[in-house]
Amino acid sequence: MGATPDSLQRLVTAASISGDIFRIHAPGRGSDTWIINNPADIKRVLVTNHHNYTKGIGLDRVKILLGNGIMTSEGSLWRSQRRMIQPLFHRKLVEQFVSLIEQAVDERTVHWQALAQAGTIINITEEMSELTLDIVVRSIFGRDLEWLTARTGVLPFQMVTDESARDLQFAYKFRSLTRLVGELVAKRRAAQEEHFDLLGMMMAARDKETGKPMPDRELLDETMTLIVAGHETTASSLNFVWYLLATHPQAAARLHAEIDALPSVSNLSFQDTENLRYTQAVIQEAMRLYPPGWVLTRRTIEADILSGFTIPAGTDVMLSPYLIQRHTDHWESPEEFRPERFLDPKRDPRAEWVYIPFAAGPRHCVGENLAMYEMTVHVARVARDWCLEYVDEGPVELEAAINLRSRRGIKMRLVARAKD
Ligand code: HEM
Repeated sequence: MGATPDSLQRLVTAASISGDIFRIHAPGRGSDTWIINNPADIKRVLVTNHHNYTKGIGLDRVKILLGNGIMTSEGSLWRSQRRMIQPLFHRKLVEQFVSLIEQAVDERTVHWQALAQAGTIINITEEMSELTLDIVVRSIFGRDLEWLTARTGVLPFQMVTDESARDLQFAYKFRSLTRLVGELVAKRRAAQEEHFDLLGMMMAARDKETGKPMPDRELLDETMTLIVAGHETTASSLNFVWYLLATHPQAAARLHAEIDALPSVSNLSFQDTENLRYTQAVIQEAMRLYPPGWVLTRRTIEADILSGFTIPAGTDVMLSPYLIQRHTDHWESPEEFRPERFLDPKRDPRAEWVYIPFAAGPRHCVGENLAMYEMTVHVARVARDWCLEYVDEGPVELEAAINLRSRRGIKMRLVARAKD
């Protein structure tokens, strides 16, 4: 929705010609969009002067998909939603999802054994898409997933992985599922049972300032938002993690060594996953090269000054994690996959505003803890037993839609790792 197939390439070319701040005129809209690609302006827009920015361009279309949930709302409504939703992603709560994540990973890999023996090639892009959908819907609906599946006959929200277009038709079809979620909420209210899942926590949440629960409409919008926001981003990151590991055997060997040194890959706590320093560096480096949210859009409320230029009120401003995370002024050999750069104790690229895969400031990704935890648990569990070999179809081609993803499914050969 919004982006065209060559949007990313056009952005990269424009930045290489025009530098770290420039504007492009959109004749269709009759307005300018400023592109910023330097740490000082990124920090100002996302953090120090964030009060002066709304989300801007493209939001109307995203609203058709997500309604007026935390991703698309502004002002006091957004603040109230953020107050209620942020606690759900505290590290102590996120690690309670460990068995759910393990189960989803194990159910997916159990059939890999037979596939490996038969030499079957798998499509890791599809595998990651299905896995991350599975994890996000289990986290949201818990044991009611069975009820939802019985109602629809398939895994609800399967369309998110089955259909790759993210156009208006997709948005309307996806929104039609809200009714089903509404029925589930009503069922839960009537039964008054306890549920440990994200929907249960949202139903129980009270705004600290007003003491009020989420209105029903909002509850449904937040549920739909978490499905979309939590699925494709994580799927895309894992897709690129496996691609990069398969094409960099030394990095894969180091990652395997770190994981093999663990006494067990079951029941990892949040802290355990953070201690897997190299594994997390691989994930961070994959998101540096291929940030799923490749472009962030904002709009000025009042005029602002960025890099000495006056940006009028009501102007769209775009910044791109993809561009800044590959900027030659801030990264050595930026096109190379080097997870070690995230192990340097003297450097924190986030504090320099040159590493923003989860954005930054008050509107940074609320699901970051869950995403990092889920991805690390997944990688540890899979890499303990498996090597994934790239079935070479040349370098990966990118598709920059709402999220950055691989244009085609990435093919992999499964090799079971020998056990001592
Ligand atoms: C690798 C995985 C992920 C990446 C790279 C990612 C990236 C991002 C980025 C860049 C934003 C800011 C968008 C903007 O400001 O325009 C964002 C916001 C958000 N993300 Fe994530 N995300 C990931 C996973 C998740 C997960 C697992 C969830 C929840 C289940 C989630 C929920 C959200 C929500 C609700 C927002 C809106 C927050 C707000 O506006 O206050 N994300 N994410």
